[in-house]
Amino acid sequence: MNKILSIRKLAPNVKEYVIEAPLVAKRCKPGQFVIVIVDEDGERVPFTIADYDRTLGTITILVQEVGYSTMRLGELTVGDSVYAFVGPLGNPTDLEQYDKVVLVGGGIGTAVIYPQAKRLKSIQKSADVIVGARTKELVMYEEEFLKNAENLYIVTDDGSYKEKGFVTDKLKALLDSGKKYDAVFAVGPMPMMRAVANLTREYGIKTIVSMNSIMVDGTGMCGGCRLTVGGETKYACVDGPEFDGHLVNFDEAMNRLTYYKEIEADHKCRLRG
Ligand SMILES: Cc1cc2nc3c(=O)[nH]c(=O)nc-3n(C[C@H](O)[C@H](O)[C@H](O)COP(=O)(O)OP(=O)(O)OC[C@H]3O[C@@H](n4cnc5c(N)ncnc54)[C@H](O)[C@@H]3O)c2cc1C
Ligand code: FES
Repeated sequence: MNKILSIRKLAPNVKEYVIEAPLVAKRCKPGQFVIVIVDEDGERVPFTIADYDRTLGTITILVQEVGYSTMRLGELTVGDSVYAFVGPLGNPTDLEQYDKVVLVGGGIGTAVIYPQAKRLKSIQKSADVIVGARTKELVMYEEEFLKNAENLYIVTDDGSYKEKGFVTDKLKALLDSGKKYDAVFAVGPMPMMRAVANLTREYGIKTIVSMNSIMVDGTGMCGGCRLTVGGETKYACVDGPEFDGHLVNFDEAMNRLTYYKEIEADHKCRLRG
C-alpha cells in the first residue's frame, strides 16, 4: 500500500498526486512510468513519473480523469493509500546526448516533459518548451516550466491564454525563425505527436515521442501495447515508451486505442451510477 501525501487540482479534470513510494523514487529517471492499482479489485493503470524526490521517497503523478480507474483514484483523499504502485517501468529518456532540444507537451503530456526539462536544466543543457492546451484553464505547470526552461512558449487552441494556435504552429514558427534543435521530444495525444513528427520530418530533425498505448500487464507479456515501429513489432511497456516518431505507425496505434471503448464506457457508467 502506498499513501497519498498531497493532492493538488491543476485543471478541471487533472490532479497532481504526491505518493509515498521510496523504492520507486530511489531508482526512477525521466521518461519512466509506474503502474497503479487503485484498490484490490482495480485494473493496472500506467502513469508517467512527473517528478520524484529521492530524499523524501516520493513520486509525483498527474492524473487526468477519463474513465473508471482514474475516477476511482479521484475519489481518494490525502492519507488514503493506493493498493499497488509498481515501478519504475519503461526505459528512461536518453537526454545526455543532445545539446539543444525542444520539448513539446500537449495536455497531460506535460507530465512527461516536465522531468525532462528539470533534468536538462540540472545538467546545464538548455531546453525550449512548448506547452499546448485547448483552453486557458487546461494549461498546467507554467511556474514549474518557467524555472526550468530556457524559453517557455504557451499556446491555446482558442487563444484564451498566451498565443493562439497549436503546438505545431509554434514549433514551425520557431524553426522558420532559424532556431536549431538537435532533437524534438513530443508528448501528448497521438494525433498531436503524429502532427509534430510529420512537421519535423520535413526539417530533418530527430523526433522522439512517448507512446501512451493501452497497457494491461506492463511487462511485455500480454501484447496490449503492441506497436509497429519502422516495420518491426514493439511493445510500448518494455521497448518504450519512447520511440522515433518518424518510424511509428500512428494510424495503427490510434486504431488500437479504440479497441476497449465499449467496455470502458460501460465501467464508467457503472461508476457514475
Ligand atoms: C506509458 C503511459 C503513461 C501514461 N501517463 C499518464 C499520465 O501521466 N497521466 C494520465 O492521466 N494518463 C496517463 N496515461 C494514460 C492513462 O493510463 C489512461 O488514461 C488510463 O489508463 C485510463 O484509465 P481509466 O480506467 O480511467 O479510463 P478507461 O475507462 O480505461 O478509458 C477512458 C477513455 O480513455 C481512453 N484511454 C484509455 N487508456 C488510454 C491511454 N493509454 N491513452 C490515451 N487514451 C486512453 C480510452 O480509449 C477511453 O476513451 C499514460 C498511459 C501510458 C501507456
Ligand atoms: S502492456 Fe502488456 S505487453 Fe505491454
